[in-house]
Amino acid sequence: METSKILNGKDVAEYINHKSGELVQKLKAQNIHPGLVVILVGDDPASAVYVRSKGRMCEKLGILSATHTLPATTSETELLELISNLNNDQAYHGILVQLPLPDHIDEQKIIEAINPLKDVDCFHPKNVGLLTIGTPYLLPCTPAGIIEIFKYYKIATNEKDVVIIGRSNIVGKPVANILLQKSEFANATVTVVHSRTKNISKYTKEADIIVAAIGQPAFLTADMIKEGAVLVDVGINRVDDSTAKRGYRLMGDIDYADVYEKCSAITPVPGGVGPMTISMLMRNTIQATIKQTDANL
Ligand code: GUN
Repeated sequence: METSKILNGKDVAEYINHKSGELVQKLKAQNIHPGLVVILVGDDPASAVYVRSKGRMCEKLGILSATHTLPATTSETELLELISNLNNDQAYHGILVQLPLPDHIDEQKIIEAINPLKDVDCFHPKNVGLLTIGTPYLLPCTPAGIIEIFKYYKIATNEKDVVIIGRSNIVGKPVANILLQKSEFANATVTVVHSRTKNISKYTKEADIIVAAIGQPAFLTADMIKEGAVLVDVGINRVDDSTAKRGYRLMGDIDYADVYEKCSAITPVPGGVGPMTISMLMRNTIQATIKQTDANL
């Protein structure tokens, strides 16, 4: 759609949210009402912010939403029981359990308890497996958001050398899986580097595209990239800043000021990948609804 050095995730999210809103209206005309339920356990302030913005976006797009806010002392059994009830609740086509969970709860067990058809995060092993073999049910939200930014700004990944910094199940591994697919917006040569990689710069210096998702503020600097690289910053780190109203500011995994002149394109923080995650969650909720109902589009 556009070419620009600053890859503005807000613009891409707005473009996709508009299409999502139209789809919701089409479904409603068929008496199908997409619904998303979010479960938040404990009182992590960042998680509470994310959960609130998910609810607001649902409202904006006409998606039915509910939030279950549970105390940090909630037992694993109680949480499993709630998920089991929601799996059987026809009003909700998507179930999202906000991560991280308190230490006494086995995160994997919770993820596996969600009905894979309602797994809008795409974290269930069945859905991870389907993605890995190239027949995804849905795409996980943050990785899908990165792909949509590439599409919007016409950044080709075909035959490109992509280096992903970070090997998490939420970002690093699924981004690698998606970009490896045999498809027009993938077909990349993918390298994943991480905290135990001996010499990260050796790989990043050769990369056409770098996706930074390691959770270390300003980790990637100009000396680590080649001229003209495309940079995607998935980091949202809170760093202390006494001059900021809240006492902190958000900083990505890339040293933005340092790399800006050398790169050909970059996602800012905030306003890059961040807004895409919620936008993709809305789209996944709608897609899950379509797959679970006899919607006729
Ligand atoms: N915590 C941070 N990112 C995510 C996400 O994409 N989904 C869920 N469920 N929890 C998260």
